[in-house]
Amino acid sequence: MVADWRRVGQSVAVVPTMGALHEGHISLVRLAQARADRVIVTIFINPKQFNSASDLAKYPRTDDADRAKLIEAGVDLLFNPSGDDMYPAGFATTVSVAGVSDGLCGSARPGHFDGVSTVVAKLFLQTGADFAFFGEKDFQQLKVVERMARDLDIPIEVIPCPTVREADGLAMSSRNMRLSPENRSIAPRLAAALKETANRIRTGVPVAEALAEGVHEITAAGFGAVDYLELRSADDLQPLTHFDRPARLLVAAWLGDIRLIDNIPV
Ligand code: PAF
Repeated sequence: MVADWRRVGQSVAVVPTMGALHEGHISLVRLAQARADRVIVTIFINPKQFNSASDLAKYPRTDDADRAKLIEAGVDLLFNPSGDDMYPAGFATTVSVAGVSDGLCGSARPGHFDGVSTVVAKLFLQTGADFAFFGEKDFQQLKVVERMARDLDIPIEVIPCPTVREADGLAMSSRNMRLSPENRSIAPRLAAALKETANRIRTGVPVAEALAEGVHEITAAGFGAVDYLELRSADDLQPLTHFDRPARLLVAAWLGDIRLIDNIPV
């Protein structure tokens, strides 16, 4: 299908997903449709990026609803490969991106970004798309994918897209559907704490102090462990102890057995 599109000069965008589609994914589709003639959505729950078998087993699967949403959105092609299609017997290659994969989710989920880089490199090459759309919600993933595509000379433009939030501020995520009603009411406090911490940093509160206060707010709201709350440079994710350049404030925290992540620009 892609070869046919190319023959008549059409451009192609890809939106890689793991399914359990929500409005955040559909916003990526709409942005892709505005940019390219044809849009491919991929759905593949990539076992290589889960560092725990139970997390993989619990990942939501909503195949029929996903298909209906993609048809309604007018997507041109759904690429939904099997595990064997992606990793046939003898598969032995790992794509690993140093630097931006380190720290943050890279420390909390060892091997996660190798799994992401490997599968996304394959999806880019398999689809041969001109553009790829990624949400800023997974900001570190976005940086890893940008670096990987540049370093491997994959001729694709990676396009960052704004995080889509619920009315109460909670960043949309496929994992949200597993929150208990009580935890769902606590969850938006993560985005609120990010906002307050960013404001403190902007108004000159020392970074370490603002971060410590932010962690306190998150745990006081009812979250369990805070894996990280960090200020990083917005372009290359270098850790920042002083707010002296465009930055990103990133957080990961546990609510019951669900790990939520979020980030905002500072
Ligand atoms: O963000 C995701 O859903 C996944 O990490 C991705 C990019 C589809 C790779 O499996």
